[in-house]
Amino acid sequence: MAFQTLLTFLEDGIFTITINRPDKLNALNKTVIEELSQAIDKVYSNVEIKCAIITGAGTKAFVAGADITEFLTLDISGGETLAKKGQEMVFNKIEQSPKPIIAAVNGFALGGGCELAMSCHFRLANENAKFGQPEVNLGLIPGYGGTQRLTQLVGKGKAIELMMTAQMIDANEAKQLGLVNHVTTAETLLEHTKEILQVIMTKGPNAVGKVIAAVNAHYDHSQNGFAAEIKLFGDCFGTDEMKEGVGAFLEKRKADFG
Ligand code: COA
Repeated sequence: MAFQTLLTFLEDGIFTITINRPDKLNALNKTVIEELSQAIDKVYSNVEIKCAIITGAGTKAFVAGADITEFLTLDISGGETLAKKGQEMVFNKIEQSPKPIIAAVNGFALGGGCELAMSCHFRLANENAKFGQPEVNLGLIPGYGGTQRLTQLVGKGKAIELMMTAQMIDANEAKQLGLVNHVTTAETLLEHTKEILQVIMTKGPNAVGKVIAAVNAHYDHSQNGFAAEIKLFGDCFGTDEMKEGVGAFLEKRKADFG
């Protein structure tokens, strides 16, 4: 299967999915979301694939967010659809995959990029990685599950502070907060991720899948939170604030929220 925006590679049971738009810092446009959905379907269905890694092309970014250039044409229902489709087609499917899917975060993991990493079963990051949910800079909130998963991973107080301030944190702080499990050098990130997957592949695959399902069951009560997020994300698209925030980014100027 040839993709426009992804590179995929299967070796020794490990399927590596690389988001490949380095000139746009691997931002998640419509095509990336559709292709990621197909790649994750392949993880589910291909018996040769035992586990997967998601990473970004180039040295600068894992994923610098949803593609902001697609936002200004959306209204409230368009915003809701974007969030709902993304959650269903990609983020929830990654989280619920019966085969391990690990994020190897090689640079900026912002907005949808941080959300993508958080939907994976766990995360490794290299020392250049930077995490953040900067949506409030754009008059938006996370829409791909970030309000829920960041809270699950780092706790309510820190999650709310990070999302309210749009502060970026480095890999070591992310590790202290429990957002990433291991910090590596840039050169050893993929190798270290593969070593952990090789250990997991020596275990019962059925049991590994059941670990994922059981841990996910702990968070089932939060499903209303995800639905609330979709609605609230969509509502942002009805505000002048979002038009100013997104417009300012596209025009390469500082947003003025008045
Ligand atoms: N959507 C669309 N394009 C994006 C993008 C995004 N989320 N993030 C980066 N890009 C594009 C830039 O517009 C630029 O394109 P251009 O070369 O055609 O002008 C290119 O990627 C390189 O980014 P640039 O901003 O020049 O790099 P930088 O090193 O100066 O800054 C960041 C890096 C990550 C700090 C900055 O790109 C940024 O703030 N990105 C947006 C992050 C964000 O708000 N994400 C959440 C979206 S909901």
